[in-house]
Amino acid sequence: MADAIAASLHYLSIFVLFSLLTCEHVLFKADLDHATAQRLLRIDMIYGVTAGLVLATGAARVICFGKGLDYYLHNWMFHAKVSLFILIGLLSILPTLTFFNWRNDLLAGKAPTITPAQASRTIWVIRLELLLLVCLPFLASLMARGVGFFS
Ligand code: HEM
Repeated sequence: MADAIAASLHYLSIFVLFSLLTCEHVLFKADLDHATAQRLLRIDMIYGVTAGLVLATGAARVICFGKGLDYYLHNWMFHAKVSLFILIGLLSILPTLTFFNWRNDLLAGKAPTITPAQASRTIWVIRLELLLLVCLPFLASLMARGVGFFS
């Protein structure tokens, strides 16, 4: 039962993570109004917390509920999956910093100033994150089936 709950929480947090990033992709544009910019900042904060939940539920499955730590540590697909997840986390720093820099404008009740270069960089990083996220379930499914095992 605990195993099923841990698995469900892992999937739920992944759904939420993907939805939040999709919202960021839909909402972000070069000429943002104050309300949308504030919404993006909030969504990005929840995105960070959700990424933590994905990691925590994934780690719980590795340590307590899955096939045992040894199984995962001897599987290339597991290492590829975690490395990709870390890469997505590193990429997400750029949009987060962009949104965070709007703080003063937002507190002053103004819409943020976004240069065309910043806008294009941010949107492409969000797209790249989405693309990499889409690859993760495939690596996870291979990992769960023992593909990539090494001794
Ligand atoms: C957005 C990131 C992630 C996605 C999309 C994802 C996706 C998945 C999916 C689809 C499965 C089910 C595989 C199957 O049973 O066929 C799974 C299982 C699992 N995931 Fe994740 N995962 C993510 C992050 C993580 C992280 C960061 C960890 C480790 C710290 C992790 C550890 C695990 C473990 C241990 C299982 C159980 C595999 C088994 O049944 O043996 N996941 N994940």
